[in-house]
Amino acid sequence: MKHLLKMLDLSKEEIIDILNLADQLKYELKHSIPHPHLKGRSLGMIFQKASTRTRVSFETGMYQLGGHALFLSASDLQIGRGEPVQDTARVLSRYLDGIMIRTYKQEEVENLAEYGSIPVINGLTDFSHPCQVLADLMTIREFKGQFDDLKMCFIGDGNNMANSLIVGCLKAGMAVSAACPEGYRPAPEVLEFAKDYDCFELTDSPIKAAENADVLITDVWASMGQEGEAEKRKLAFKGYQINDEIMAAAKSDAMVQHCLPAHREEEITEKVFEAHANEIFEEAENRLHAQKAVMVKLMA
Ligand code: CP
Ligand code: NVA
Repeated sequence: MKHLLKMLDLSKEEIIDILNLADQLKYELKHSIPHPHLKGRSLGMIFQKASTRTRVSFETGMYQLGGHALFLSASDLQIGRGEPVQDTARVLSRYLDGIMIRTYKQEEVENLAEYGSIPVINGLTDFSHPCQVLADLMTIREFKGQFDDLKMCFIGDGNNMANSLIVGCLKAGMAVSAACPEGYRPAPEVLEFAKDYDCFELTDSPIKAAENADVLITDVWASMGQEGEAEKRKLAFKGYQINDEIMAAAKSDAMVQHCLPAHREEEITEKVFEAHANEIFEEAENRLHAQKAVMVKLMA
């Protein structure tokens, strides 16, 4: 593994390896066992979009690993004035040991990896959010003990989260159902990947998708960059909500995950969110541990 660009690139073995290391790093942190695997290394973090969890967990994670992280707002870089990503990649490769980037187009992340000579980590694009899904898988395994015989149900927009969850959960060995309205389905390459799995189902019925689910996951109706479509999307996603009715269709011990930020009473009710807050905030914490594992795998 040279980069983390999207879940489609990872094998099941690579996913499990990252999760095992993440569990170990979590244990070490909780027991104050030093783990300076990246002493003297630097990570550049390019942000074209806002972030709370990704920024803070990468920066803190790098510090805990003995390294250093630089926050690089795209608007302050020459990239924001049109310097090509291909040139930025070749320059930053001469200063840094790794780059994390959050941007719009997946292509930009792939270009950074192609032209640079250091590991690139995708911190979210419109197409994918692999760091989040590794943390989700870590949390699911923590709460459920394993992946086999589990069903993950995603309800809502076929966006970066849906794309990455479908691939990540299928690769990990789970059954997957996704309920997305017409016009907001997951990306074609994700559906192409999933079509070989008998245990994958795509529907426009949230209740049907939720039947017997062990894990229910949703995400915002309008992602970063789609703010102008918010009103149109509110109409399109009406009913695509994790609420009591959906919880009743799932298994009685079903867990809930949300990458956050959450919009209460849109994709999830306040009641369900608060009832599952311990799982959701453990998921947020696990961003730190899972990303530390990714950085150690790529940069140590
Ligand atoms: N879930 C997630 O990526 O959060 P941030 O946008 O706050 O980084
Ligand atoms: N789908 C959301 C995820 C935020 C972490 C977005 O792209 O804004």
